[in-house]
Amino acid sequence: MKASTLAVAQIGLLNVLPAAAEYVWPSKHDRMEDLLVLQGGYIREGFVDGISPCTRNPNAPGRQTAAEWIRTAFHDMATFDKATGIGGLDASLQFETDRAEDAGDAFNATFGFTNNYYSIRTSAADLVALSTVLAVGNCGGPKIPLRVGRVDATEGGALGVPEPQQDLDTHKKMFAKAGFSTEDMIAMVACGHTMGGVHGKTFPEITENNTETNVVHFDSSDSTFDPKVATEYLDGTTQNPLVVAHNDTLNSDKRIFAADNNVTMKALASDPKTFQSMCSDIFARMLDTVPSTVTLTEPLEPIPLKPYITSFALTNASHITLTGRIRLLTTSDKYDDERITLTYTPRFAPAANATLDTTILTTPANFQLGTSNGIFGELFKWHEFSVALPTSTSIKSFNVTVTRISTGAQTLYNNAGRGYPLDDTILYQDEQSCRVGNNATLVAAVRKSVVDVGTSVVASMARKYHKQGTIVPAFETEEWKGEVGKEVGEWVLVTIKGTQQPESYSTHFDLVAGESKVEYLGTNVLGQQQCKEL
Ligand code: HEM
Ligand SMILES: *[C@@H]1O[C@H](CO)[C@@H](O)[C@H](O)[C@H]1NC(C)=O
Ligand SMILES: *[C@@H]1O[C@H](CO)[C@@H](O)[C@H](O)[C@H]1NC(C)=O
Ligand SMILES: *[C@@H]1O[C@H](CO)[C@@H](O)[C@H](O)[C@H]1NC(C)=O
Ligand SMILES: *[C@@H]1O[C@H](CO)[C@@H](O)[C@H](O)[C@H]1NC(C)=O
Ligand SMILES: *[C@@H]1O[C@H](CO)[C@@H](O)[C@H](O)[C@H]1NC(C)=O
Ligand SMILES: *[C@@H]1O[C@H](CO)[C@@H](O)[C@H](O)[C@H]1NC(C)=O
Ligand SMILES: *[C@@H]1O[C@H](CO)[C@@H](O)[C@H](O)[C@H]1NC(C)=O
Ligand SMILES: *[C@@H]1O[C@H](CO)[C@@H](O)[C@H](O)[C@H]1NC(C)=O
Repeated sequence: MKASTLAVAQIGLLNVLPAAAEYVWPSKHDRMEDLLVLQGGYIREGFVDGISPCTRNPNAPGRQTAAEWIRTAFHDMATFDKATGIGGLDASLQFETDRAEDAGDAFNATFGFTNNYYSIRTSAADLVALSTVLAVGNCGGPKIPLRVGRVDATEGGALGVPEPQQDLDTHKKMFAKAGFSTEDMIAMVACGHTMGGVHGKTFPEITENNTETNVVHFDSSDSTFDPKVATEYLDGTTQNPLVVAHNDTLNSDKRIFAADNNVTMKALASDPKTFQSMCSDIFARMLDTVPSTVTLTEPLEPIPLKPYITSFALTNASHITLTGRIRLLTTSDKYDDERITLTYTPRFAPAANATLDTTILTTPANFQLGTSNGIFGELFKWHEFSVALPTSTSIKSFNVTVTRISTGAQTLYNNAGRGYPLDDTILYQDEQSCRVGNNATLVAAVRKSVVDVGTSVVASMARKYHKQGTIVPAFETEEWKGEVGKEVGEWVLVTIKGTQQPESYSTHFDLVAGESKVEYLGTNVLGQQQCKEL
């Protein structure tokens, strides 16, 4: 991939999220955090469904999705060149699936799944990293820190994924080129080969059985991320096909595992905790091997309190509706023990003789107990709100107060001292927007003051299209121009029309009026509703 393109993209990323910054809402990485932590319950993204159960792929005998996801990350990053900074985990593998060194069904299957979550804010490379974190964490392994911000390659990269028939010296050189020592190599391969196995369909010369469903597992607990790959190797009971193949040329694990006189394998086998922490460390380094032009964030952690705005739109000239949810990270012993209220700052001070109630009440969600959970013990409680606020004062930001009912203790969440901001300069009129056939209509309400100075209102729409030789689609941003319509109070309705082909029925767009924006709005609901007049 071309370094210059990456460099330009990177400037944008750096402006958005300096590494180590305290979380500030909203963030470009909110969606990735959702995909990491919202696995089950009331509001769920369910990424982990793709690897439930860990034991197999319910639709393809002999295949194991969790193992395939892990192998995908390795094959994508293996060709990194530390000296030039080119390659690494950049989803270039999507263009490389027909190469002999990338044999098997795993890679298109993994990208086929990550495609369900692929968007302008969730790169295929970040989704591959997430896949490995969830596959390992869901199947008995450690919690690997997930950093995000990977940028996808736009074409295939260099050759050089290790293959079993190559000798130890070649493998050492390949790992060294990617920035890994012999000990790193041993740990990475052993941790990788604790799940899954070798398929007769793909490697009949290794399993000596080319039946479609034939698979020989690396250890006796092929669906659990545990040290058996190491303990069985050391105690001589291993059936690892890359250790005990009849043709010794193909025994790459045998050569690699013994490459430091078994020192690393003995450490991995010493106790399950050591195995987990060594694997977490080496897999984190594997996932964070990215092109030198990419800067990753700090590891994502579940955000203690996160607002979700589902609608912020004009109801009529006098009222603006704010609908959304608050997601609170909680602990099971304090379950259902909180009251959440929002306190807002109006955009314009109320008239001297008027009083304004700036409290917004929320209701705990009930469906599925109103909770969501992740796979690392995260538990979230959802509270919902929907209010009509007077447009004369409107709203600029809000803070959130959580009160423990049992103790009366209160915690104020104020978004790192900034309040949670809302900009009513441009509003997305979701109820007035729709798609009929392929004709999409987006309606924005834009403050007259902005339209009057001639600022044009546009939608920056991500169009999805298919690329030759890859299962992963690409995005192109189109600018759709708005047409000024009727006035509603201090706002003007702007209608933006464009056409969308079915592959773009679930992409995202920004509404932009000069400096003001509403970002990352989904097109997926447009087709499910009729355009309502305001
Ligand atoms: C010299 C390095 C390596 C060689 C030669 C090698 C070779 C292989 C081979 C031949 C297979 C069988 C694939 C199939 O039949 O579908 C395999 C599977 C696998 N490899 Fe590696 N590998 C290496 C390193 C790694 C590393 C570092 C990881 C770490 C992430 C890894 C993870 C996996 C996984 C999870 C599977 C099982 C896939 C499945 O069950 O579908 N490998 N490897
Ligand atoms: C080859 O593998 C298939 C599928 O695992 C198995 O049913 C069959 O018995 C194997 N054949 C031999 C000769 O081992
Ligand atoms: C490493 O362990 C294997 C398996 O127990 C053994 O066969 C081999 O001789 C050992 N190699 C060294 C150098 O200790
Ligand atoms: C062992 O595998 C190597 C590499 O694929 C191959 O060149 C060689 O012919 C094989 N040896 C036997 C005896 O099949
Ligand atoms: C405007 O909307 C608010 C909130 O729904 C409602 O209370 C009010 O009656 C509406 N005003 C008009 C003129 O329809
Ligand atoms: C409040 O003051 C404004 C002007 O400052 C006036 O137009 C309005 O009638 C007053 N409202 C009441 C209820 O006194
Ligand atoms: C929200 O919190 C910030 C920072 O503590 C404070 O400056 C602001 O006044 C608060 N706003 C409201 C409406 O309480
Ligand atoms: C979409 O718009 C085109 C051009 O205005 C029109 O010809 C077509 O009938 C519209 N399709 C639907 C389903 O409304
Ligand atoms: C993966 O999918 C792409 C796009 O459809 C295709 O060109 C490629 O041949 C596929 N690879 C394999 C191994 O099936």
